[in-house]
Amino acid sequence: MSKLVITGGNRLTGEIKIHGAKNSVLPILAATVLCEGTSVIHNCPMLSDVTASINILKFLGCQCDFKNNTATINTNTLKCSQIPERLMREMRSSVIFLGAVLGKCGNAVISSPGGCELGPRPIDLHIAALKKLGAVVKEKYGQIELSAPNGLNGAEINLAFASVGATENAVLAAVTAKGVTVINNAAREPEICDLAEFLNLCGARVYGSGTDTITVFGVENLNGSTHTVIPDRIAATTYMAAVAITGGDAALSGINPSHLTAVCSVFEEAGCGLKYSNNKLILSAPKRLSRVSTIRTTVYPGFPTDAGPLVLAMLSKANGTSVMVENIFENRYRYVDELKRLGAKIRVEGKVAVIEGTSSLSAAGCKCTDLRGGAALVIAALAAKGTTVISDIKHIKRGYECIDKRLSLLGADIKEI
Ligand code: EPZ
Repeated sequence: MSKLVITGGNRLTGEIKIHGAKNSVLPILAATVLCEGTSVIHNCPMLSDVTASINILKFLGCQCDFKNNTATINTNTLKCSQIPERLMREMRSSVIFLGAVLGKCGNAVISSPGGCELGPRPIDLHIAALKKLGAVVKEKYGQIELSAPNGLNGAEINLAFASVGATENAVLAAVTAKGVTVINNAAREPEICDLAEFLNLCGARVYGSGTDTITVFGVENLNGSTHTVIPDRIAATTYMAAVAITGGDAALSGINPSHLTAVCSVFEEAGCGLKYSNNKLILSAPKRLSRVSTIRTTVYPGFPTDAGPLVLAMLSKANGTSVMVENIFENRYRYVDELKRLGAKIRVEGKVAVIEGTSSLSAAGCKCTDLRGGAALVIAALAAKGTTVISDIKHIKRGYECIDKRLSLLGADIKEI
């Protein structure tokens, strides 16, 4: 079981490139199932969640190659079949294959997603949307079987919540459905726009992505195409917080600043100087960050829930007390107890976390509870006195490509053992 060993105190400086967005490439890989021929996905991050998706594609009979940040998928030998439980359980976001496999094969069976580190992860909104398109749903023995014997037909879908995954599944099922689909209260995340862009390159007709109403005109078939994935805005926030907590000064390249407006205003309020020039975000942090006014996580373009743990860790060493309200996931704060082992002074009551900034953090052994919670421990350890050992880093590998190499490039004393 590998661990990360971090000796805190180094000021982070220099330049790194931000990898492609995990939450964009996962639905795009699922979308390749709908396409004839070969798709080539560039800027594909080397992550365990991506490998898990490639394994599902291989199980479905696709020819896949994944190296040097490029995934090549050929679906000519795709055979529609059930995705086995072990592969479905490998990651929560495998539910995203539902819409694509149903659209391609006319039926899909997945194991009902268990909970995950962030609490129960229901898929009721996904199922409701697919039923509106004509899917027949049967649940038995912990499995959910969807079928569309007469194919899928366009419909008006009203999402009760602007769920990212449900929006993506609805779009993926609608692109080859007969007729027009309108998705109201759609999620507006940049990853939805990236998926729509890929689908349209393949011949789909998806309009309105990035707004809360998406219209899809069904087409007969889609052909594989080549696409470059957008940068990972949450990974970008992670490295920004790492530089900021160490009072550093660094450039992050391959960033799209328009995806980070809510996050950047928090960093500026904390005292960081941010400049954007030729595709690089330059962050200069003060010796000590200031507290910020209450942060409330919400759907895009508001402050993202995934950035919460990263910014909370950064603020644990700020001057003053900050407050965070987590409005998306029930147990997003599981990592806080581990953060407190490093000396962070945080009180959690329900959705609210009160972060009383302390002038010093001290190293301790700790373990990752989930992906972004694990990244929060790394951020705090970079500014803690002494050497911190972080275990269970498989969570971090799900969403961060070579986090140790990238932080070492910025001058951190970090190694994986
Ligand atoms: C996506 O998850 C991301 N994952 C998450 O990132 C991210 O935190 C989340 O969107 C919010 O931005 C991927 O894109 C692979 P949701 P998703 O559906 O689609 C409830 C990370 O760290 N809900 O918008 O699962 C749900 O329980 C991950 O990279 C229902 O009730 O998020 C949650 O409380 C973590 N019923 C809320 O909505 C449903 O059918 C947000 O879920 C679906 C969701």
